[in-house]
Amino acid sequence: MRSTITNRWQDDFPLNWTEDHEVTRRQFTAFLTLISTALFLGTGFVGVREWWRRRYATPPPARIATVNEVPVGGVKLFHYPTLHDPCLLLRLSADRFVAYSQKCTHLSCPVVYRGMEQGLYCPCHAGLFAAEDGRVLAGPPRRPLPRVSLTRHGEELWATGTAG
Ligand code: FES
Repeated sequence: MRSTITNRWQDDFPLNWTEDHEVTRRQFTAFLTLISTALFLGTGFVGVREWWRRRYATPPPARIATVNEVPVGGVKLFHYPTLHDPCLLLRLSADRFVAYSQKCTHLSCPVVYRGMEQGLYCPCHAGLFAAEDGRVLAGPPRRPLPRVSLTRHGEELWATGTAG
């Protein structure tokens, strides 16, 4: 039996208990389970879509340098396809340019260029990659550096895609 004594807030916010919909513990648990499942599936969908986009979508071409910016034996840092993807452009000879992701394929430390003979060196665990083709020469990495496709338009160099 309900008390007939009312508090002041009950006058301001009267509740009609006979019309109130009570939520059982089972209904509340089902609601939480439904929301958790929806969040889990939504997060998984976003993750798979992002993986698919990075793996299969061809990024748009981007102008990364002019020929005169990089001397023979020199290197230039650029970002491709996004600002979160650092890459290195190497000029191996007067007419030969190559570009790679700067992220080591072991644990993603940034590699540094040490010239044609010494290649691309990863200071974290002494990984070493060949400058000509990005293959592994030494250290723990098992995969070559991902290559950036280049196209030359006159005096301009354009990144046109990624591989690996
Ligand atoms: S992160 Fe490059 S060798 Fe380990």
